[in-house]
Amino acid sequence: MTLPASSRFRFTADLTICRILNGMWQASGAHGRIDPTRAVDEMFAYHDAGFTTWDLADHYGPAEDFIGAFRRRFATERDADRLAESQAFTKWVPRPGRVSRRMVEDAIGVSLTRMGVACLDLLQFHWWDYGDRSYLDALSHLADLQGEGRIRHLALTNFDTERLVAIAGHGIRIVSNQVQYSLVDRRPEAWMAAFCRDHGVTLLAYGTLLGGLLSEKYLGRPEPRRHELLTASLQKYKHMIDAWGGWALFQELLAVLKAIAEKHGLGIGNIGVRYVLDRPAVAGVIVGARLGVSQHIEDNARTFGLTLAADDLKRIEAVLARSRDLMTVIGDCGDEYR
Ligand SMILES: NC(=O)c1ccc[n+]([C@@H]2O[C@H](COP(=O)([O-])OP(=O)(O)OC[C@H]3O[C@@H](n4cnc5c(N)ncnc54)[C@H](OP(=O)(O)O)[C@@H]3O)[C@@H](O)[C@H]2O)c1
Repeated sequence: MTLPASSRFRFTADLTICRILNGMWQASGAHGRIDPTRAVDEMFAYHDAGFTTWDLADHYGPAEDFIGAFRRRFATERDADRLAESQAFTKWVPRPGRVSRRMVEDAIGVSLTRMGVACLDLLQFHWWDYGDRSYLDALSHLADLQGEGRIRHLALTNFDTERLVAIAGHGIRIVSNQVQYSLVDRRPEAWMAAFCRDHGVTLLAYGTLLGGLLSEKYLGRPEPRRHELLTASLQKYKHMIDAWGGWALFQELLAVLKAIAEKHGLGIGNIGVRYVLDRPAVAGVIVGARLGVSQHIEDNARTFGLTLAADDLKRIEAVLARSRDLMTVIGDCGDEYR
């Protein structure tokens, strides 16, 4: 299988990524048991199919170690000179509180060691409490480490538009912000996308498949109870559906997506991912991968051949127009974490 050229995106001058990134939160526990050997084997299947870009974090269980294991095997069995064909975007999620240069250096050092790299491709920074402006100190230390060659590009995750403005005002160059973005959660369109467009920042979307709820599997199903949702991801996005408009409206959305998907000979997930890929400022959509447990490589590859028609978008909009405004219910991107 070869992905079309449209699957690639020039993320920065020196990094080209696959527009569907492989999400590794699913390796962290609470998403089914992951066997490390099978997981790394499957990473090769993703890579060889063209899904070369990984999204992970310091706190996603063994995810950073899996990148290290993948790279070591790749260098031994293939060619160390071709390691740059794979991109690994990690995160640093410190506990709230003061941040010293030493703390930042130690945290980045751990990620470098675990991933077996001399320089992180992308470091996405998360912050819990805007009441504590130490996030600006943390970013300034991270920018120093970038200057020293330990981080290639600096990015954010779950930051709101107000804080993006503040960070830009401090002269810190950010290349992307990773936020929840789906047919159900379109908050990035309110303020964030315009800021990104004006400042050369891109968005990496997560939650686009609502942990798997946005699929045929849940079409026509009665509202699942919490104990029936077997991954942390499914539970997280069920809450989002409740806030957005509830299960009955979600079923209407799934029915419309199913009709559109059938017309294109595809699945509901393809429609949901394509929709977000086509939104302004979006560089890529991160799709969670339960490595060695379940796999959707071929399904997701088909998204790149899909063009949504104006009539498809009109039918989707007719359902979405009846949902609640999550900007009012929750607040801007990332406010659900605060
Ligand atoms: N920055 C943050 O705060 C944050 C938060 C959450 C997630 N993330 C990132 O985003 C990634 C995505 O995670 P997520 O929790 O948002 O999950 P998601 O991508 O919305 O859902 C992943 C699940 O969707 C199902 N799936 C995948 N492709 C499909 C297809 N073509 N058709 C139908 N179902 C399909 C799979 O379910 P099955 O395995 O059951 O088949 C998969 O486990 C994470 O791994 C992480 O990297 C970041």
